[in-house]
Amino acid sequence: MDFVIRTERLLLRPPSMENANELFFLMSDSDLTRFLTWEPHKSIKTTKTLIQNLIEAQQDDKGYHWCVCFNNKIIGLVSLIDVKRKIRTWTLNRAELSYWIGIHFQGKGYATEACKKIIDFGFSSLDFHKIVVAHAVENTESKNICTKLFFSKYAYEHDAFQKNDKWHDLIWYELIKEHRNESQ
Ligand SMILES: CC(C)(COP(=O)(O)OP(=O)(O)OC[C@H]1O[C@@H](n2cnc3c(N)ncnc32)[C@H](O)[C@@H]1OP(=O)(O)O)[C@@H](O)C(=O)NCCC(=O)NCCS
Repeated sequence: MDFVIRTERLLLRPPSMENANELFFLMSDSDLTRFLTWEPHKSIKTTKTLIQNLIEAQQDDKGYHWCVCFNNKIIGLVSLIDVKRKIRTWTLNRAELSYWIGIHFQGKGYATEACKKIIDFGFSSLDFHKIVVAHAVENTESKNICTKLFFSKYAYEHDAFQKNDKWHDLIWYELIKEHRNESQ
């Protein structure tokens, strides 16, 4: 399967070890990670371990990741993570959308542009039936993306995670393949 995807302004491609320096530069920025599950990278070794994990996740159908490239330069990462195909006799075929864009490249519509194509790819090439996404209540930028991508809100989760000594609520959204087609 060809995982390289083009949008109007961006090239989306799976990460490789050669991207360690560029990703480390972006992922060591402490302004980026306020609502993310990880801390800023302090050493390139952390970034290399991450890249190895991302590559293995893709091989095992556990998660799919794309570097977001603008003018041949990596500016962020968009992923379909937490892939669930089956629970016993139930077929799920679902994944969770996640995304970040480097601080200096935000506010230009790149996350929305990349996510649109990744969602299309998830439904058409990776056989997902449902894609979910969640954002911390305070994360207005992420909320706006969920709205622009036609996700429907389905749950409010209290105290979903603790970060920096504070508990945060999450709002969950879903998008089902057929509904996506209707909203186009
Ligand atoms: C959330 C995040 C990914 C948003 O990235 P982004 O690229 O700035 O988001 P967008 O694609 O929506 O662009 C934002 C703004 O750019 C503006 N913009 C500028 N030029 C544009 C263009 N050519 N096309 C579209 N929008 C454009 C839009 O007005 C948009 O504002 P709006 O949200 O009021 O509509 C980014 O803030 C981030 O990485 N945050 C930290 C990590 C994080 O919180 N991730 C989400 C975890 S749930």
